[in-house]
Amino acid sequence: MPFPRIRRVSFDYMASFKAVAFITSKDDTCHGDTMVVIPEKVLEAFNNPKSVKVLTSVETGGQPHVIVCGSISAVDAETVIVGEILMKKTSSNLEKHRKAAVLVLVDMISYVIHVKVKKRVTEGPMLDNMNKVLAGMGLKANAVWTFEPTAVYDQSASQSAGIKLA
Ligand SMILES: Cc1cc2nc3c(=O)[nH]c(=O)nc-3n(C[C@H](O)[C@H](O)[C@H](O)COP(=O)(O)O)c2cc1C
Repeated sequence: MPFPRIRRVSFDYMASFKAVAFITSKDDTCHGDTMVVIPEKVLEAFNNPKSVKVLTSVETGGQPHVIVCGSISAVDAETVIVGEILMKKTSSNLEKHRKAAVLVLVDMISYVIHVKVKKRVTEGPMLDNMNKVLAGMGLKANAVWTFEPTAVYDQSASQSAGIKLA
């Protein structure tokens, strides 16, 4: 059984007094398994053609597995997608563990979105549209993984680094 984790939570009390509470949790659900909405500036960064994007999945045993993933995009504020083009280990990790984190970098701006798997889509317009773009690069996706966001963090090279945005 996992040890209870202590989490520090701040909240505004009677609009003027900042109180700090400590709560405990016995599992990872307090990490944020409920869907959040991706802020507009984060959507823009993920859909910026100049961006560099990486996806981290988790292997059995907890080893993180990181890959560059140009096809990551935020199709709307509640949906992140990734093309399964060359990935094998990542697909297997996603299938088994259903969680990942995607990071975007544009110059000095960076954000991380924690995601959980919605579906692995193997046919239909989403996959067809991605493959139209990939055909120009001589590549083909076997599937599109769709995810819902569960947390968003600013990881920029600025004082906002580490701040939870959603
Ligand atoms: C610029 C760049 C973009 C890439 N984009 C993707 C991608 O969108 N999808 C993908 O499956 N692999 C992509 N790859 C390859 C992955 O980084 C990775 O090497 C490959 O998928 C194998 O992953 P695996 O170790 O999880 O099996 C890209 C690699 C580079 C260098």
